[in-house]
Order: sequence, then C-alpha cells, then structure tokens
Amino acid sequence: LTDEDGHGRDLVVGWMRELDLDVGIDVVGNIIGTWNCASGAPVMTGSHIDTVRTGGRFDGNYGVLAGLEVIQTLKEAGITPTRPLAVGIFTNEEGARFAPDMLGSLVYVGGMSVEEALDVIAIDGARFADELEKIGYNGPNPCPGPSPHAFVELHIEQGPVLESIGFRLGSVTGVQGISWQELTIVGQSNHAGTTPMSMRRDPAFVAARITVFLRDLAMRYGPPQVCTVGKVDLVPNLVNVVASKVTMTVDVRNTDEAVLRRAELEFAEFLSVVAQEEDVTISTRTLARFEPVTFDERVVDIVSDVCQSFEVPAHRLPSGAGHDAQMFARVCPTAMIFVPSIKGISHNPAELTDDADLSLGADVLLHTMLRLASTDFTIESNT
Ligand code: GLV
Ligand code: MN
Ligand code: MN
Repeated sequence: LTDEDGHGRDLVVGWMRELDLDVGIDVVGNIIGTWNCASGAPVMTGSHIDTVRTGGRFDGNYGVLAGLEVIQTLKEAGITPTRPLAVGIFTNEEGARFAPDMLGSLVYVGGMSVEEALDVIAIDGARFADELEKIGYNGPNPCPGPSPHAFVELHIEQGPVLESIGFRLGSVTGVQGISWQELTIVGQSNHAGTTPMSMRRDPAFVAARITVFLRDLAMRYGPPQVCTVGKVDLVPNLVNVVASKVTMTVDVRNTDEAVLRRAELEFAEFLSVVAQEEDVTISTRTLARFEPVTFDERVVDIVSDVCQSFEVPAHRLPSGAGHDAQMFARVCPTAMIFVPSIKGISHNPAELTDDADLSLGADVLLHTMLRLASTDFTIESNT
C-alpha cells in the first residue's frame, strides 16, 4: 500500500483493461480481472504484486502476469474456455509491513473481517484503511467475494528443491503451517562502561539467547522445521548504552500442525525461563498463525497430468512459503504450479528463474486452467 504499490497496480490494471477484462476492486483492494467469455463461476488464477522491501522481480508478479498472458494467448488463438477465466491481484500478500501475510486473500475468502483488516497498523504506524485510500484502491466490491469454480496459482518455488533434483516443474501438494510472533523484551537501560555484567538486565542479550534457542530447536527437530528471527529493533540502539527494549519477530514453520504446536509450546516455556533468569519482561503478540494446508488432490493431479503432457514430469512437493492459494483452498478446489528458483534464492533482488522455465510454467498454467474449466468438481471420482 505504498505509492510504489499504487503505481504497480495502475500499470497492471491498465494491462487488464487492454485485454478487455472486467476489472473489479474490493473493499480491501483486491483486484479481480475477469474474462467473461462464458457463464458460471470462473476458473481463477492470480497472486500478488507486493514484495518484501528487499524482494525480487518474480515472487508474486510472475503468477499475475502469466495469468494475463494465458488470457491474451487464448484470445489470440480464438479459443473460448467453457467458463470465465479470472486473474486476481491480492493485497498485502507479504505481510512484511501489515500483518498478517496473505491478508487480501484471507479477507476475500471470509477468514478475517473487513473491519479488522482495515484497522491493521503497519510496522511504520500507518493504518491499513488510510494507506489503501491514499493509493485509491479502496474499491466498492464486498468481501467475502464470490467463490471461484477452482483456483490455481503459478509461482516460483523460492527454495532449492526442484533445482537440486533436476525437475523443471513442481505440482504443489500444500503449504506448511506458519506461526509469526512479535516479542517485546524490556530490561534496564544503563551505561555500557560502568554497569557490571552481573547487574545487567539486557534485552539485547536476551534477544541473542532467543535467536540461539530457535536455531537449536530447528536443528533438534530436523527438517522441515524452520525458525527465523528476521527483524530486531534495539532501543536506543547506541554503542555505549545497554538497551532498554528490544522488539523482534519470530517466524516458525512446519508442515505438521502437531509438531508446529510443540515447537510453539517449547518456545513459550523458554521465554518464561529466560525472562526470569535475565530479569526482563517479555510480551508476545501473534502476527499471523495459519495451519498447514493440503491442496485438492484432483487439482494436484490435473497439474501433474498437464506437466506430463508436455513430457516434463512434475515433482510433487509442499510449499515452504505462504501463498494466496492457501486461502482459496478453504472455498474451492485449489492447487499450485512451481518453477525452479536458481540457487533457491528468494526474498532477495538476486531471485532468478530461467526464461525457458518461466515460459513452460505459463504453458502449464494455460492448459491447467482449461482443464479446470471443463472439470465438474461436484462429481465424486472413485479413482
Ligand atoms: C509469505 O509469502 C511468506 O511465506 O513469508
Ligand atoms: Mn509470493
Ligand atoms: Mn514473498
């Protein structure tokens, strides 16, 4: 919801209009461009165009632009799908400024109220509703929005798995659980030269102990457990002052909900022990908490079949990153397509995928959307 986000939205909405799509904007700024070439609920694709501040070009943008290219290609080829096709741009997928992540798609599917979303305060103190209005994307369409017939999202993997095993395509089986917390540690600010080590109540040291604990926890649990301290702010942040306060974030993920809960519990116990040992107070605030998601097997199979029809087999894998598709999985048959990330690098401007893989992914998206349009998901299959 920065001015840059506004300019990016204007650019892509312009491309949607050039394609003659019906462009709808909802109350939290989600943009849905629909090709009303048939009747019924649309097959929807889409992703996000916001990025983390140090993000790359592909995370999110790729899925949105590929969706538009699918529609352009079908139009140019004179092919009319049996259902409308839609491309969504979902607000605040990253959640790095406004928590939680995937906020736009979460509100779209009814998982968070509009009022709550509009009142979210950013890390820079800005209010979601004010920032949305400032860029002119506080649209009229209500949320929750209408459920699509099916949803498929194309995305870069953002990790090293596909590249390491030599696969060019991934058929995504689900998304791991995500637990985000903000911790505020309060101690006693004092002089760095005169305060004996035994008399310190030092939140910077506590932040370090927490970081080491999380690293050890992840190593002890083993893959797929991951833990990250991504943001640490010290007050007053000066060379010769013992800090008075630290605010830090903790990101804990696992594909298994029970294990994720165990990790959260162990961590909470550690916080009370370390607070007592170091004579500081630690308060916690949940920024995001999403259980692991399993995608619809029928859609995962369709993605795998389409990849096979290109004679490029897809590897089935869960997603380590969060995605808008995991929200749509609550309301319609959903899955995702991955292409490899070179060296597994993402949330970094160096993020890169081969052109040939990007193009192959878009081809798979096109054929997957056509297959989804002609699939009746109300009939239970016995296979
Ligand atoms: C959001 O995209 C995340 O996985 O952090
Ligand atoms: Mn993304
Ligand atoms: Mn991202």
